[in-house]
Order: sequence, then structure tokens, then C-alpha cells
Amino acid sequence: MKIGVVEKPGVLKIADRDVPKVTNPDDVLIKVKRVGICGSDIHIYHGKNPFATYPRVWGHEFVGEVVEIGSVVNGIQKGAHVVVEPIIYCGKCYACRQGRGNICETLKVMGVHIDGGCQEYIVVPAANVHVLPTPLSWDEAVLIEPFTIGAQAVYRGNVLPGDFVLVMGAGTIGLTALQMAKLAGATVIVTDLVPAKLDYAKSRGADFTINAKDEDLTARVREITGGMGPNVTIDAVCIKTSFEQAVEITSAAGRVVELSFNEIKSEIAPVNIIKKELTICGSRLQTKRFPVVIDCLKQGKIPLEGFITKIYPIADMVEAFDFVDKNNASVRKVVISFD
Ligand SMILES: NC(=O)c1ccc[n+]([C@@H]2O[C@H](COP(=O)([O-])OP(=O)(O)OC[C@H]3O[C@@H](n4cnc5c(N)ncnc54)[C@H](O)[C@@H]3O)[C@@H](O)[C@H]2O)c1
Ligand SMILES: [Zn+2]
Ligand SMILES: [Zn+2]
Repeated sequence: MKIGVVEKPGVLKIADRDVPKVTNPDDVLIKVKRVGICGSDIHIYHGKNPFATYPRVWGHEFVGEVVEIGSVVNGIQKGAHVVVEPIIYCGKCYACRQGRGNICETLKVMGVHIDGGCQEYIVVPAANVHVLPTPLSWDEAVLIEPFTIGAQAVYRGNVLPGDFVLVMGAGTIGLTALQMAKLAGATVIVTDLVPAKLDYAKSRGADFTINAKDEDLTARVREITGGMGPNVTIDAVCIKTSFEQAVEITSAAGRVVELSFNEIKSEIAPVNIIKKELTICGSRLQTKRFPVVIDCLKQGKIPLEGFITKIYPIADMVEAFDFVDKNNASVRKVVISFD
């Protein structure tokens, strides 16, 4: 079978490997149909993901059809269309005991710490598999994982109906946060530097958009929120200054949700946190957000038109990565197809 593997930083290849077998009774074998390329896959390609080890079959956003099931697997039939939750956790550490396997002490993410979904067939634990409702196409289903990231940010920020939410950045993750915040009943303001990205955010339900290059972000946000500031700020720009700005701008009793894996330090005065009793939280991957997103999609609550920029056959995988690299200002999601 074909696999897409980053052999070492900068070297991305299609290679051959034997089809894996179900050896654990609680595993399933999946014929992969689609794999989404995420910013973090690009980082792995370029050797800029601090968690990745090589060689690595990339891909943590993947969907496919179950073709074999282990002897003790219940509730999943051969032929089921599924999305895979790409995290493996111990179930015993403090975070896991809080139901937060996404930040397990020994967390392993498929496609990062262990091999991921860019392979024609993959064996995964049945516990990591969510069966898709029937009308969902592969092209829709492959967007479930990115939407769980936005859903987690909204969950971590405890977005309440009537809240003002500022989503910084209308990239892939910012857009998913926007759509999930709208579903939570918030008024959403989105920033970016690229007009086309803001136009798309508007078409996805953004109530206000601000081009941070041309406008004074703080002044505009204050104006929109009647001087208060947003109650929740979700940082999906993830640079040194965006975190600083988020703390500065968020309202009293507000929440700042930080998504950045950035190792560069931001400068934040403690007084700006305590005077407003801000809650500043990290949001990493997701906990229990797959069923939430799947349910929203099933009910047609998340319009996905235009979210996928381009689909490439597996044979053109390297070209697909280069396309994402060269078109960062316009790409939302590029997907690899195994059909
Ligand atoms: N915590 C997590 O679980 C998690 C998961 C996925 C991605 N991420 C992180 O989220 C970040 C965003 O990911 P993405 O895939 O959406 O990236 P992206 O590049 O698609 O989006 C970033 C967006 O920010 C915009 N931008 C840049 N500078 C800006 C500024 N000063 N003001 C306003 N907008 C600005 C860009 O134009 C772009 O649209 C990345 O840093 C990524 O590592 C975190
Ligand atoms: Zn991703
Ligand atoms: Zn654990």
C-alpha cells in the first residue's frame, strides 16, 4: 500500500508498506479515504514541530471505511464510514482522570508522535473511532477534526449566548472557532490581515470583521462592544503580540483562549490580568468534541461550502504540500484523496 511519509525534515515521500493487520482484539482496520493537510503537518515537513519524530507517516485529520474489526469490538460494523480521533492517552495520569486525555502526560498524536492517517490502510483502537451519520460525504467528514479544534476553543472559553467573542485570525482554525462560537449564540468579531479571508469569515457568519492592518483593532473592538471589550478572545493568530493584545483587549470577567504552540515569550503585565480577573487558558486539540461536531454537521448547522480549497490524489501529495506552502494567504484546507 502507499504511505505518505516525512522521512526527515524537508524530505516528504510516497513509499510502499505492507497493509497492517488487526492484532489487538479491540482494534479496527480502516481503508483511508481522505486526509487533510494541517499547518502542523507543514511544520512537521519543515522540521518545525517540536513534538514530531522521524520518519513519520503524517496525517491526524483522516476519515475512511472500516474493513476489518477485532474480535471484541462492539457497535462498529464492517463498511462503517468513520472519522478517527487521533490521540492516544494513558487514562491514568491526573489529566486523564479529569477526563482530559488531550493533555495526557504521555499523549501520543497520530501523525506526530506515532504514524498517522496518510496511508491506504491504518489500524487504530476502536475507541478512537466515531461512526459518521449517513449523508456526510468524505469531503465533509475530513473537516470534522479541524472543527473540533474550534469547538474546543469555544468550550475552553466558556462562550455563553450573548457574549461578544473576538476571533483573532481567519485562518483554518479561526474559521472553525468562528462557526462554533456562532452556534454557541455569540456575536463574533473576526480579525485578519487578508481581505479575502475576512470576506469568507463574513460569509460564515462573522458579525463584524476588522482588518488589523488598516484599522485600529482596539478602538474598533471597543466601539463594537460599547467600550467593554470582547468577553472571550480566541487567539488563532498565535504570534507574540496577538497574545499580548488578547489580554489587553478582553473585558473584565473575560476569558482569553490561547491556541499557540509558539515558544517565543509574550510580555504581559500581571496587573492586566488581575484587574479584570481574566481567565487565561490554553486550548489543545480537543476533549469529547468529536460527537459535538458530528452532531452539528448531522443537523446541517455547520455550512462547509468553500472550506476545502483543493483536493489532490495521493500521487500528487508533494505537490499538495508545496501548494499549501506557496499559497498560505489563500488556502483554507487542502485534502489528499485515496480514491
Ligand atoms: N492549540 C491547538 O490545538 C491548535 C490546533 C491547530 C492549530 N493551532 C495553531 O493555531 C494557529 C492558527 O492555525 P491556522 O491553521 O488557522 O493557521 P493559518 O495560517 O491558516 O491562520 C492564521 C491567520 O492569521 C492571520 N494573521 C496573521 N497575522 C495577523 C495579525 N497580526 N492580525 C490578524 N490576523 C493575522 C493570517 O492572515 C491567517 O489567516 C497556528 O499557530 C497553529 O499552530 C493550534
Ligand atoms: Zn490539524
Ligand atoms: Zn494520561
